[in-house]
Amino acid sequence: SRIMIKETAPSNIALIKYMGKEANNIPSNPSLSYSLPHLLTTVEISKTDASEDQWAALESEYAIELSEKGKARYLKFFKKLKDHFGLSSNYLIQSANNFPSDAGLASSASSFAALTKATYSLAKSELDTEAFQALGFTGEFITDREKLSALSRTGSGSSCRSLFDTWSEWQTDFAVEESFSYSKLLHLAIIAEEDKKEVSSSDAHIKVKSSLLMEGRTARANKRLADLKNALNEKSWEAAFEICWAEFWDMHALFETSEPSFGYMTADSLMVLNECRSYWKANQDGPLVTMDAGPNVHLLFREDQKSCYEDFIKIFENKFKIWGSES
Ligand code: DP6
Repeated sequence: SRIMIKETAPSNIALIKYMGKEANNIPSNPSLSYSLPHLLTTVEISKTDASEDQWAALESEYAIELSEKGKARYLKFFKKLKDHFGLSSNYLIQSANNFPSDAGLASSASSFAALTKATYSLAKSELDTEAFQALGFTGEFITDREKLSALSRTGSGSSCRSLFDTWSEWQTDFAVEESFSYSKLLHLAIIAEEDKKEVSSSDAHIKVKSSLLMEGRTARANKRLADLKNALNEKSWEAAFEICWAEFWDMHALFETSEPSFGYMTADSLMVLNECRSYWKANQDGPLVTMDAGPNVHLLFREDQKSCYEDFIKIFENKFKIWGSES
């Protein structure tokens, strides 16, 4: 069948973490992230004669594999988007990433945001202008993207921050674009382990409610958000590093103090973290360091830290798979 629509969305890495949520993925605390266009999902939508919506991997260098559960979640969200836009035909959704699917880098953020954007474009082409505007959309992506962010949030929380080019801040319903003195960062992911995680991030949001450390978590995240925004505005890189470091440890402490406890940190993760700390000690400079609900370590560098970025590639390339924005 003929391809009707094609859209892409980047992944994003949070420095202040979304962890803990209420119904419809309303977060317990605000988060702040940087978008990663070298970790991109492409979604194509075409009409199908089949009796229901379908998903298939898009042919690409790195084919996506979705579990039955993953496919069902993705198509359920597509149905929700179709209902929102009043679309009733059946469609074939195809998606691909521009990075290997088996490296533990795949995120629901890029795939759900790309599906939201693609369905928006589909609606724009299928609906007449009045019907489209009656839904509150202008048809200009830049003016509609906060609405799209709110929609995408209901599919997967972190995807609401993937509608923006660099920085985005998410308080409650949708994310907004932010800008700081550091407008462009370099990114390196150190793949400590490629296996799929035992506890999904969606499940982690529920499980952390049992942690005694949840008391005060919202206040701590709010404080760090304010401090980090200041640091990024004032070009206080080292202060930003300390805030990001404390923030991901706070989230991992929630995991480890849940009842029952769970966790993602491996011996290799800790080895990578120790290298980061040594590098900072030796150089009085280094990358921002963070971890998601997984064992991999994400590093962010300033534009003028290209040689530091290369140092980290040298430190880790013989031990781990790495994936970076500059390679
Ligand atoms: C640890 O967005 O995957 O990456 O809303 O259930 O889809 P759902 O959760 P998800 O949670 C991501 C959590 C995180 C931190 C973050 O990205 O802020």
